[in-house]
Amino acid sequence: NTIPSGQDRGGAVPGAWAAPAAPPCPVWGAAAGAVVPRAAPRWSEQLLIKGGKIVNDDQSFYADVYVEDGLIKQMGENLLVPAGTRTIDAYGQLVMPGGIDVHTRLQAPVMGMSSADGFFQGTKAALAGGTTMIIEHVCPDTGSSLLAAYEQWRGRADSQACCDYGLSVDIPRWHESLREELEALVKDKGVNSFLVFMAYKDKLQCTDGQMYEIFCIIRDLGAIAQVHAENGDIIEEEQKRLLELGITGPEGHVLSRPEEVEAEAVFRAITIARQANCPLYVTKVMSRAAADVLAQAKRKGTVVYGEPITASLGTDGSHYWSKNWAKAAAFVTSPPISPDPITGDLQVTGSAHCTFSTAQKAVGKDNFTLIPEGTNGVEERMSVVWEKCVVPGKMDENDFVAVTSTNAAKIFNCYPRKGRVAVGADADLVLWNPKATKIISAKTHNLNVEYNIFEGTECHGVPTVVISQGKVVLEDGNLCVTQGSGRFIPRKTFPDFVYKRIKARNRLAEVHGVPRGMYDGPVHEVPASVRAVGPGTFPVRNLHQSGFSLSGSQADDHIARRTAQKIMAPPGGRSNITSLS
Ligand SMILES: *[C@@H]1O[C@H](CO)[C@@H](O)[C@H](O)[C@H]1NC(C)=O
Ligand SMILES: *[C@@H]1O[C@H](CO)[C@@H](O)[C@H](O)[C@H]1NC(C)=O
Repeated sequence: NTIPSGQDRGGAVPGAWAAPAAPPCPVWGAAAGAVVPRAAPRWSEQLLIKGGKIVNDDQSFYADVYVEDGLIKQMGENLLVPAGTRTIDAYGQLVMPGGIDVHTRLQAPVMGMSSADGFFQGTKAALAGGTTMIIEHVCPDTGSSLLAAYEQWRGRADSQACCDYGLSVDIPRWHESLREELEALVKDKGVNSFLVFMAYKDKLQCTDGQMYEIFCIIRDLGAIAQVHAENGDIIEEEQKRLLELGITGPEGHVLSRPEEVEAEAVFRAITIARQANCPLYVTKVMSRAAADVLAQAKRKGTVVYGEPITASLGTDGSHYWSKNWAKAAAFVTSPPISPDPITGDLQVTGSAHCTFSTAQKAVGKDNFTLIPEGTNGVEERMSVVWEKCVVPGKMDENDFVAVTSTNAAKIFNCYPRKGRVAVGADADLVLWNPKATKIISAKTHNLNVEYNIFEGTECHGVPTVVISQGKVVLEDGNLCVTQGSGRFIPRKTFPDFVYKRIKARNRLAEVHGVPRGMYDGPVHEVPASVRAVGPGTFPVRNLHQSGFSLSGSQADDHIARRTAQKIMAPPGGRSNITSLS
């Protein structure tokens, strides 16, 4: 592939960008199989975004924005900018921080297939919709190394992604030896969030005890515990029952996963996280019942975040009952899409974008439990949130920025580099036209799948110009992206937004035994053989008695487990945390 002249990325000719018209978009990025060397130097672009209304999560105001070297360099009126700076007219438009999609699965491996939109197509679609950063989930195979999977994802994303990205790592099956991998990922690899599963029995599912153990480790590392909340035991029983009844189509998927099994798991995850004093982040909040459980916990002051996704905000589950198998299958995702879409009280939104073509979905044509799960949403998220929340007046423009970008940056600790229009921040920006409209359709989407679950939805509020790393990537409806230009954004531990309250709580969590004389009365004789019986399937660190510190190393690393020391702890136990930083 040759790069058209004038687009010579090695040349860095700022003058070439002074032309008033948009530069022609090189087609090589979109060409099938085009591989652009990642290390290619990028041209520098100087931009003046003029006359727009800046919208941050806390305020809106009118200002011009000057962008250079991928950063916001100046904001205000009558800015002095170098000659040759390209001006972008933003009159009548909102200038907002680019969206952050906190949940994508662009490389999800399912039954030996990988999802239809890889890093290139997926990030291209993200940019088309006004999202300039994604957090992709690394899904290691059960029993394999988390670090190896992380490196694999890094390799693919670095060569293909065209917007910045972070990584969150799934923990498919817990065993004690993963503790060191978590520590390495946090300390050396820029990962600060880990997901555990309460569903997918005998595959990914964690027990409550394992979750408690993992949450304690995550808390000590200063990371965020994420959970896929559904009661996997109940789902398995329901699946068997439905298949026995001869229900094999996609409706079986939703019938086997009633809302209660999501709400119950959310409640249980919150309970466990509270006991472990670990910040909790529930991915894919799909039903109103689950959202209510979260809202209630939040009102009580629990450090918990819920992630509704594009699908749970923008569509309902009625198509599971479609006579068209392929259409019904396109909606299969877990937890399933509820008949009652979520509204209001959002903190953060993702897409859980994970798409499969109809032929891939058809692996489960005779058995709904085999349909690969996942829906689209990375491209539609911003417009769907605007349409469903801002248009009807449930949120204002500032709330919109909070739930599509800023809160994500704060929770996952890349704020204010991301998530804010401010001097010094990355120039990841969206010019949003609240008056423009578009109709979502598979005919026009930037995805590799036949169905779009939001087909026909009319959205008011459209990104007109998208700027990623200081470079215009969408303008006049034309996408102009560079494969491999996306950078990995490492994220640090102990985000203030999340951990200030966790730390305060730890100070209160000290427990004290009751000083009392020795009991010296009679003791009933229990045969030793009975006393020895206990499940004890795997060795568990005795969390109640360990002096955990929030700094990573454990005060009890060198002492034998299960010391004779007795403490008075409430049932379920609060950990004895003494050191805080
Ligand atoms: C459907 O698939 C599951 C695996 O998910 C399998 O256990 C079950 O036997 C299959 N049932 C039928 C009726 O094909
Ligand atoms: C809590 O831990 C500290 C240090 O590990 C220890 O000195 C103290 O005795 C513990 N408190 C209780 C009640 O076990």
